[in-house]
Amino acid sequence: MCGIVGFTGTRPASPILIEGLKRLEYRGYDSAGVAVEEGSRIQVVCRTGKISTLEQSLAQFSLTGPCGIGHTRWATHGTPSEVNAHPHLSCDGKIAIVHNGIIENHEELRRILEGRGHTFTSQTDSEVIVHLIEDAYSMLAFDSSEEDDLADAEGARRPHTPTSELAAGKPSLLAQAVSMACGFLIGSWAICVMTEYEPGKIVCARKESPLVIGRGAAGVHVASDVAALADLVGEVAVLADGQIAELAPHGFVVFGSHDDELIRVRPETMKLSGRSDTADRGQYADFMLKEIYEQPRVIRDTLEGRFDGGELTIEELGLTHEELNLIDRVYLIACGTSYHASLVAKNLIEGWARIPCEVEVASEFRYRNPIVTPSTLVVAVSQSGETADTLAAIRDARIKGAKVFGITNVLGSPVARESDGVIYTKANKEVAVASTKSFTGQLVSLTLLAMLLAQSKGRLKQGQMRLLFRELASTAAQAEQILKDTERVHQAALASKDAKSAMFIGRGMGAAVAEEGALKLKEVSYLHAEAYPAGEMKHGPIALIEPGFPVIAVATESPTYEKVLSNIQEAKARGAMVVAVATEGDERISEHADEVIYIPKIRDAFSPITAIIPLQLLARDIALLRGCNIDQPRNLAKSVTVE
Ligand code: F6R
Repeated sequence: MCGIVGFTGTRPASPILIEGLKRLEYRGYDSAGVAVEEGSRIQVVCRTGKISTLEQSLAQFSLTGPCGIGHTRWATHGTPSEVNAHPHLSCDGKIAIVHNGIIENHEELRRILEGRGHTFTSQTDSEVIVHLIEDAYSMLAFDSSEEDDLADAEGARRPHTPTSELAAGKPSLLAQAVSMACGFLIGSWAICVMTEYEPGKIVCARKESPLVIGRGAAGVHVASDVAALADLVGEVAVLADGQIAELAPHGFVVFGSHDDELIRVRPETMKLSGRSDTADRGQYADFMLKEIYEQPRVIRDTLEGRFDGGELTIEELGLTHEELNLIDRVYLIACGTSYHASLVAKNLIEGWARIPCEVEVASEFRYRNPIVTPSTLVVAVSQSGETADTLAAIRDARIKGAKVFGITNVLGSPVARESDGVIYTKANKEVAVASTKSFTGQLVSLTLLAMLLAQSKGRLKQGQMRLLFRELASTAAQAEQILKDTERVHQAALASKDAKSAMFIGRGMGAAVAEEGALKLKEVSYLHAEAYPAGEMKHGPIALIEPGFPVIAVATESPTYEKVLSNIQEAKARGAMVVAVATEGDERISEHADEVIYIPKIRDAFSPITAIIPLQLLARDIALLRGCNIDQPRNLAKSVTVE
């Protein structure tokens, strides 16, 4: 979703901002813009479409100013257009802001501000912020000029430069104005602000939307995502909710708010690896393909060091065996693909550990009154670690006294920071909007968690654990084998590409795989797809089937294999074109399915890890045949940071 970058230093800001925005492209956006201090003026340039379009336009402006802010916008309030793109300017054009998040009371604020004479130029919720800051600033500037007059009279006036204020650790007028303005906002925000009145300065504030700040060789950088700062800074300060940061060319300070006063605080910091994973898709045609092919590595990395000394350990969980043993209910909270990984895990947690486990979409969980007690373990599963609904669910669960555990792919992300413990999925940066390798990382991590719970409850003995772990590890080699021969997937894609709609079916583990397969197909190919537990087909969806209608069945070896085979026959009897994902050696299936994609034999519990791979490839292949943008499907964002 929306992305923020900012820079103040000794080099022209514009190319640095563009480079940062490019690194955030993977998040999804529909317009982009920058504001750069040019001489004594702020110059704003916004364009719809790709960053490259903005970059070309900027070439005509030859901006050289060393301080600026930039933004990629994913439209929520107001269409994707140049007027709605950020940065937004105050009425006098002297203050510019970029904003991530949603201002829930924007309609009321707009009415009040319009009543006070402010003119709005966009339909966005964000624009109210710059007008609020404009009002606050002029009020504070008036008070301060009165004070300065007094100080002049007493011969004590100090120079008003960003650097001297930073050194003194006092908040500037802009920082105070931002703080005041934030006091009127309801919702979530990460904002960066600059003003012609205080050259070379950027002020940042956040509530629920991330912002990180770091010092680089040429100046100080700020961004909403560390991806924009990789290679530029070695360490970042992670702004906490309610904090305000003030950036100047040679440093930055962070303030917390105490009794309406801004007091300098020491921010939390995080080291960066210095490696930008986003840059290179190597030999692959797109990032989605590259990431699908990375899955064997993800499985190995996620398992590494977990089963040394004959016992499964997940130290990051932060719970002792005794504490684990007390857990009597598990909630898995997630959205989208992460939700589908959780559906698989429910079967494992209940099956192995015999602990009741519920899987819930985060946006539902947060508005219900679920039964959560101190003996409940809430597991938040989120690739990005910044999904707004998942974060809200974590906060809610913690208030209710539950232990919260995060499974995420992003180091230091809000999910990681706000949970009691965390497992990192070791997928490394996922660039394609459609999740593939992080699904695999989540499946493996959740499987480990289920095994750990079972071990703590004494339900799985050491020998069983060892056997399971060995089989789990073998999925890496199996994934490699599947990825070596993709011809059957291609045949299935050719057979399905012209369909208007498709149905995915499966049972047990296969039902969760079917859900994820359908989501992948919808996302990247725009082909309508639905997933049903195969037994549900007769209760309605079968009405959709007509000659040639694609039914994609997950029919791997499992206790319900015969049932799935019957469902395939029911679909076939009505003319469906059946594509089956089946276990090597299964000859019966080819009598009923039009296309069969075989995967190696594996225990049912682990089958989702390998069975999903042909479906990821199928979705991508169909999307390619339909001429779709594989890595950046329309309307989608990689990180869903608003509700
Ligand atoms: C699908 C996809 C989305 C995400 C969902 C949750 O390919 O990527 O459905 O899975 O938005 O995102 P995270 O896992 O970052 O919380």
